[in-house]
Amino acid sequence: MVHDSGDRRLVPGLTMERHRIPFASFRMPIFHAWDERWFLLTAGTLAPGGFNTMTVGWGAFGMMWNRPFALVVVRPTRHTFGFVDRSPDFTLSLFPEAFQDKLELCGTVSGQDVDKIAVSGLTPVPSLEVASPSFAEAELVLECRKTYWHDLDPTHFLDPRIHGLYEGDHHRAWFGDVLAVEGTRDWERH
Ligand SMILES: Cc1cc2nc3c(=O)[nH]c(=O)nc-3n(C[C@H](O)[C@H](O)[C@H](O)COP(=O)(O)O)c2cc1C
Repeated sequence: MVHDSGDRRLVPGLTMERHRIPFASFRMPIFHAWDERWFLLTAGTLAPGGFNTMTVGWGAFGMMWNRPFALVVVRPTRHTFGFVDRSPDFTLSLFPEAFQDKLELCGTVSGQDVDKIAVSGLTPVPSLEVASPSFAEAELVLECRKTYWHDLDPTHFLDPRIHGLYEGDHHRAWFGDVLAVEGTRDWERH
């Protein structure tokens, strides 16, 4: 890992040229990002076997308790669940569209059965503010410190169609205080 004179971090030949983006100049088409680009949700530490990653397509960004926050929802059946549960933080990494097959892989096989990092060829790297790793190939990374969790309660579903999306494995929702946004220039107001 090379740090240049600014806060830009480079892994020769690999890293997208990401810069720390102030919240005020961060621009994201939120619905497009969640619904069509997806994120890798990663939690744990960079040590071998210390983290797991999985694709997420449901979640949110907004303001909570006066801070920018991210919401992720993870079914308890996911191997990643225990990693998010035990970790104080998590990262959300968004990739260039050419990586969509890798996100499909990380969203269909489990870290319990497969070494997703080896199979995907993605490069985990240290994050700026949190222990949970992010990825050299990502064009956008949000680093989050967990602030709240809640298990979704099906008795509170107000639209009956939501029940059809579950077989008893209701998500746990985590809020994360966004500590850092790191992205290519495309994610900044110009
Ligand atoms: C596009 C896409 C979006 C997904 N979004 C979520 C999600 O928001 N929450 C969730 O629990 N699982 C989601 N999944 C499923 C997990 O990524 C998938 O079950 C994964 O294999 C879990 O890996 P793990 O067992 O290593 O944690 C999604 C899968 C795909 C393909």
